[in-house]
Amino acid sequence: MRFPAFMHVDDLNNNDPTIDAQSSMRLGSWQFETPVILAPMAGVSDRVFRALCRAEGADYAPSEMTSSDPVLRNTPQTRQRRLAEADAKPFIVQIAGAEPAEMADAAREAVDEGADVIDINMGCPAKRVCNRLAGSALLRDEALVARILAAVVSAVAVPVTLKTRTGWDPANRNAVRVARLAEDLGISALTLHGRTRACAYQGMAEYETIAAVKTAVAIPVIANGDITDPCKARDVLAQTRADGLMVGRAAQGDPWIFGRIKAYLATGIHLPPPTPDTVQRMLLAHVSGLHDLYGEFLGTRIARKHAGWYFLRWDREAIQRRAEFNRLESATAQLRYLEHYTAHFNDLSNLYGEAA
Ligand SMILES: Cc1cc2nc3c(=O)[nH]c(=O)nc-3n(C[C@H](O)[C@H](O)[C@H](O)COP(=O)(O)O)c2cc1C
Repeated sequence: MRFPAFMHVDDLNNNDPTIDAQSSMRLGSWQFETPVILAPMAGVSDRVFRALCRAEGADYAPSEMTSSDPVLRNTPQTRQRRLAEADAKPFIVQIAGAEPAEMADAAREAVDEGADVIDINMGCPAKRVCNRLAGSALLRDEALVARILAAVVSAVAVPVTLKTRTGWDPANRNAVRVARLAEDLGISALTLHGRTRACAYQGMAEYETIAAVKTAVAIPVIANGDITDPCKARDVLAQTRADGLMVGRAAQGDPWIFGRIKAYLATGIHLPPPTPDTVQRMLLAHVSGLHDLYGEFLGTRIARKHAGWYFLRWDREAIQRRAEFNRLESATAQLRYLEHYTAHFNDLSNLYGEAA
């Protein structure tokens, strides 16, 4: 097993990761020091995963996207996505849609049900979110963006945040204009995924536009996109001067990434990876939480996806483990398998990233 040990960064290079890395950010009555946030991921960051990531250091974790469409808004799936969590403060509900009045209604309803913050999704690259033009497709129509933001901000008394991309396509990176609009209309914080809509998930995220947005507005800016390890987190902060970071795919199968990033930013120390026992306990907690949340049929299927991510990240025999786990049909069989599971770690050097 090889990884760069748990040494102070000065042992690795002469850069101090903590320089300028810490910044204070307010969201309503909440205050965060350079928050590291779990990205909303539909079908992934449900309340079970969000709670595990918060327990491992994520400062907060917005809900998965919920549709503002009045028909879809009250399906059991959407209702479950915005069920308030007493221990998740602030509880942030993300809404998506293209109709200002519907978005305002959806925001009001979420606040009535316990949301502390509303997050507007203008980042989803799908042309149609829940059968409507929404997500980052809206970026092409700044007048509509303004109407949506104004409608939601005036509908609720809680902070409203916006999550978006750097623009429509590489020739139309309008994030700076959208950010100024958002600030003028009372948006409390902005998360930027460093890709345009047209770029979907291709290539590497670009952080220049995030840096330009940070310079252009006074509201907190959260940088998102391809933050995979503590060194990358430090580099993105240095490059963008963002107030916080949001981590999505790199947290799949690795809720510990939040603790590693936060420790490194605050102290320059690399935390050790979880032990095989810790991985096993996390898997058991995660999978049994999914069984409880979704019931046996759906829970066992959703558990396969998450367990597969843990195996891929932590086990050199991941393909075999995943195949074995995917054959298990019942909640009991999955839990029994995991009770006897020991991760056989891969080379873990990529957990920490490259010192710049
Ligand atoms: C499976 C999946 C589902 C996603 N669902 C949402 C969503 O519901 N709302 C949203 O704003 N972004 C969503 N995203 C985008 C992420 O929040 C994030 O912006 C993107 O993955 C880039 O961050 P990363 O490189 O750290 O993964 C989703 C991404 C993935 C991979």
